[in-house]
Amino acid sequence: MMNMDYYIELTNVRKCFQGEDVLKELNFCVERGSAYGIAGNNGSGKTVLMKCICGFLPVTQGLVRVGGKYIGREVDFPQSLGAIIETPGFLDHLSGRRNLQILADLRGRLTGRDITVALLRVGLNPGLTRPVAKYSLGMRQRLGIAQAIMEDPELLILDEPFNGLDKQGVQEMRSLLLEEKARGKTILLSSHNSEDLRILCDRIFEMDAGIMKEVEKTV
Ligand SMILES: Nc1ncnc2c1ncn2[C@@H]1O[C@H](COP(=O)(O)OP(=O)(O)O)[C@@H](O)[C@H]1O
Ligand SMILES: [Mg+2]
Repeated sequence: MMNMDYYIELTNVRKCFQGEDVLKELNFCVERGSAYGIAGNNGSGKTVLMKCICGFLPVTQGLVRVGGKYIGREVDFPQSLGAIIETPGFLDHLSGRRNLQILADLRGRLTGRDITVALLRVGLNPGLTRPVAKYSLGMRQRLGIAQAIMEDPELLILDEPFNGLDKQGVQEMRSLLLEEKARGKTILLSSHNSEDLRILCDRIFEMDAGIMKEVEKTV
């Protein structure tokens, strides 16, 4: 399997908190340009795994390599990453657009037009001045997805991205992620909803108490 082109490679990754293993000797790779899904009960370790891949948490043991770089050694964070981890946090008193603008300005790569496009793609009105404090959970989630895609990253790590969305919102965000996948993005997605995973993902894994097992995709 040496010639496989993996975007994410975890080798013998263990993560423990206060001596308790949350991730147990994980060996897990995500092929470049594929979408992989992670199912699993609450507390099984999905979010911790995603945080380790994003460089938000250090691993206790093992290696995490993303886009060819070792996280925590060669780079602190993956270099071309858009992520939503748990419920996205924003500055509540500012508008969605202002929030995205502040984040974009940190890197200085985006124009106002890029932000408008990202907001339109997730179905938010780019002219909306309402503060994020007054957004519904679904609108917040859409804003989180806009933030994840706005810089056009190669990798998307999406932890329960459909939380709080109504049926139509789920349909719209599914289509958006299918578009991103068709554009060659690598996607790692967790969801409670097995239908979301079946529709979007090439391969599906189940996290069970820190161990990942591949699940047969039922058609
Ligand atoms: N920062 C932390 N400190 C201590 N324990 C944590 C921390 N983050 C997560 N955990 C524990 O790790 C386990 C897995 O959590 P998590 O990855 O959030 O589960 P999931 O996302 O699958 O619901 C849980 O038992 C949780 O309490
Ligand atoms: Mg979680």
